[in-house]
Amino acid sequence: MENNLATKVAVVSGASKGIGLAISQALAAAGAHVVAGARHNSPELQALEAAGSATFVAADLSTTEGPRALVAAAAQRGGVDILVNNAGAVTPRFEGLLSVSDEDWMEALTLNFLSAVRITREAVPHMLVRGGGAIVMIGSVNATLPEWNIVDYSASKAALANFAKSLSKEFGHKGIRVNTISPGPVATDLWLAEDGIAAQFSAASGATPDQVVDSVVAGSATGRFTTPAEVADLTVFLAGEQAANITGADIRIDGGYVPTL
Ligand SMILES: NC(=O)c1ccc[n+]([C@@H]2O[C@H](COP(=O)([O-])OP(=O)(O)OC[C@H]3O[C@@H](n4cnc5c(N)ncnc54)[C@H](OP(=O)(O)O)[C@@H]3O)[C@@H](O)[C@H]2O)c1
Repeated sequence: MENNLATKVAVVSGASKGIGLAISQALAAAGAHVVAGARHNSPELQALEAAGSATFVAADLSTTEGPRALVAAAAQRGGVDILVNNAGAVTPRFEGLLSVSDEDWMEALTLNFLSAVRITREAVPHMLVRGGGAIVMIGSVNATLPEWNIVDYSASKAALANFAKSLSKEFGHKGIRVNTISPGPVATDLWLAEDGIAAQFSAASGATPDQVVDSVVAGSATGRFTTPAEVADLTVFLAGEQAANITGADIRIDGGYVPTL
């Protein structure tokens, strides 16, 4: 797939680390110029910038202004061919539903769902001008495998997958393809950082973070977390011509974590 995206401009949200960084690196390796949005830059993104493969946009994408600034930067590069809505976060709710406030719900829905709506709304006119494009949502297995202790996150990812399907129907005949990737546990800071999910579940359960990780993957078929690079490879495939007739799909990458079809 080397250079199959040459001349393309790709917008990636949440691009400074984890899955979004791996996607930015893979899109750049395939020849695209990446317009990379996050609140903070990172050494890895700076390296892509230094190589001329990326433009970093400092933006809080949970605001109304952030998505506009991100897509405006892409417009300055000539437009948008590829959009990856990846920015997201999860906060465990160990006290259950009755502890989850309106503010908590709004925070989860705004970052995990509404930011994607806003970025997409800004990007689609640019894709239409260019005769089409590809949009990839980074969802989660929790869209269809909801968990009580991440109730707001699960609902926000379900909304994201639902939105992607609607978009695929509206814009398919105008050349815009829209697909969702639903990862199971991926080896990023979200899970593995000092304040990540494993550490938070560890503090709540008394198990060590490593024991939490082991128990999470124990029931999966491959017995390990997905790597960010594996999610990135799938994203590059969906963004490219090899996937020209794939739209409205929701593709799981979870090492068999979800036990049902
Ligand atoms: N890791 C997993 O197991 C897993 C599984 C399924 C789905 N996912 C999904 O994959 C996506 C990426 O997750 P990850 O594991 O790569 O997380 P991560 O390592 O925590 O990275 C999150 C990225 O999003 C950015 N971000 C967070 N809040 C933002 C905001 N308000 N405005 C702009 N950027 C923001 C962060 O940059 P800044 O902090 O600099 O803003 C960072 O670049 C998320 O949507 C997540 O739900 C992850």
